[in-house]
Amino acid sequence: MDRPREGREPTIAELFDLTGKVALITGGTGHLGSAMARALAEAGAGVVITSRDAARAEAAAAALPRPGSARHGGLALDHMQPDTLPHAFAHAVESVGPIDVLVNNGHEAVPNDWTSVTAEEFTRHLANATGYFVLARLARDHAVQRRAPASIILLGSMYGLVASYPDAYEGICAASPAAYHALKGGIVHLTRHLAAYWAADNVRVNCLSPGPFPSEHAPAPLVDRLSTKLPLRRMGRPHELKGAIVFLASDASSFMTGQNLVIDGGWTAW
Ligand SMILES: NC(=O)c1ccc[n+]([C@@H]2O[C@H](COP(=O)([O-])OP(=O)(O)OC[C@H]3O[C@@H](n4cnc5c(N)ncnc54)[C@H](OP(=O)(O)O)[C@@H]3O)[C@@H](O)[C@H]2O)c1
Repeated sequence: MDRPREGREPTIAELFDLTGKVALITGGTGHLGSAMARALAEAGAGVVITSRDAARAEAAAAALPRPGSARHGGLALDHMQPDTLPHAFAHAVESVGPIDVLVNNGHEAVPNDWTSVTAEEFTRHLANATGYFVLARLARDHAVQRRAPASIILLGSMYGLVASYPDAYEGICAASPAAYHALKGGIVHLTRHLAAYWAADNVRVNCLSPGPFPSEHAPAPLVDRLSTKLPLRRMGRPHELKGAIVFLASDASSFMTGQNLVIDGGWTAW
């Protein structure tokens, strides 16, 4: 059995500290991405926010807190165009510095559920996973090339684990898209596969699966119904992912890889 190594035990503040690290987060202007980007910045990281719109990314990066001397940056990235990703990743490294943490959070949605989605729309929705994979491999190759550890986090969902309740949506709006369930279930499992192959490179890969965190645009009757479906009886608030993302990005989770951290108010507990 391994014995603990001699030496000073890191404090909890040291374990969660991201000072000197650089984190790239896709979709960092969005509902959850903006809170997670702030969390990474508040923990001391330099943060690269990406958006499909460069000006939006730059504005979001400029608004991030800077508790130390970290630099932030914003740039355009569309993960549905995989051929453009090597250039975008290299641009991030050039403008802010070597990337230690990748958060694959961006998401191109489709509005149609199983009743009306076309084959083309379904296939395109799945291509979000292609973007996550291509970016993750770029981050892994970058870490190997600079002989540095890395933490890669993929956003999954409770809907990658369970079906949605048909009665939650009926008469209000389209149900959760069938392709979304295929996509997020695939991302949870892609996490395990990449973690197994990249552990030897000192690259950790974990999934963060939020439960219901509707934005203010979600129909109120839907929110009321969804709130009956989970033990905590309310929706998640974006700041309730801040602890989880810093945990996964930092040494606080140094012995964790290939896992799916579920922050869902207990949705999948019953
Ligand atoms: N909110 C929830 O209840 C919930 C629950 C479970 C899982 N999730 C997951 O959490 C993540 C964030 O969700 P959210 O609720 O914050 O959604 P959101 O507000 O729509 O944010 C997603 C962001 O992704 C970016 N994006 C769209 N297409 C993209 C593309 N092709 N390439 C790169 N980025 C793209 C968009 O930014 P730009 O328009 O600036 O490009 C958008 O702001 C998603 O992966 C989602 O599936 C959310």
